[in-house]
Amino acid sequence: MIKFNINDTEVEVEPGCTVLEAARQYGIEIPTLCYHEAVVPSGACRLCMVELKDGDWSKLVASCIYPAAEGINVYTETRRVQNVRHWIFEMLLAQCPGSMEIKKLAEKYGVTSTRFSIENSDEECMVCGLCTRVCEEVVGLSAISVMDRGVYKKIGSPFSLPSNACVACGCCVTICPTGAMRSRIDAVRGTPSVTLTQLAL
Ligand code: SF4
Ligand code: SF4
Ligand code: FES
Repeated sequence: MIKFNINDTEVEVEPGCTVLEAARQYGIEIPTLCYHEAVVPSGACRLCMVELKDGDWSKLVASCIYPAAEGINVYTETRRVQNVRHWIFEMLLAQCPGSMEIKKLAEKYGVTSTRFSIENSDEECMVCGLCTRVCEEVVGLSAISVMDRGVYKKIGSPFSLPSNACVACGCCVTICPTGAMRSRIDAVRGTPSVTLTQLAL
């Protein structure tokens, strides 16, 4: 077993556990968006940042991909963590102003507005790739993927055409943390999907 400290309390977890998994085992709350226990974590949204401290030295890490290690000291609510979390929420509010899920989570952490400019007030997708990972790792299909690069990155089926590979299981819609996949799934399937959309609501 590995022993380390979270917020000055000793925790003990199995080797291979991440800091986020350890925190959850002990009921310590860390906000997440792109994490889901069903798929391999990717560290895409950075919302789960925590601070590692050793004397005067400290650094911020994404807890969903940082492995628990013997003797480390992790803090989940320092000023530095709260600052970076605030910035990340502001960036998400600007990137996904259409997402009620993000608005609600940001509000819970006291963030209700953004200083960043908003380009598309309907956008809900933060391009975290969780939907593509569940399609590939759990469903075993890769019917959707992250397309293009940089600010043009988006989620969809190859060449943005309806995909025969999609079996309409709805896993991507269910796992999407922002609600964005609800409005994208019909384009992926190529047929209107009242059932899937209703299931996700
Ligand atoms: S559709 Fe949802 S799960 Fe997929 S990348 Fe966008 S926000 Fe993430
Ligand atoms: S609904 Fe289609 S795209 Fe979504 S996870 Fe299932 S197979 Fe993949
Ligand atoms: S939840 Fe850890 S980076 Fe998104």
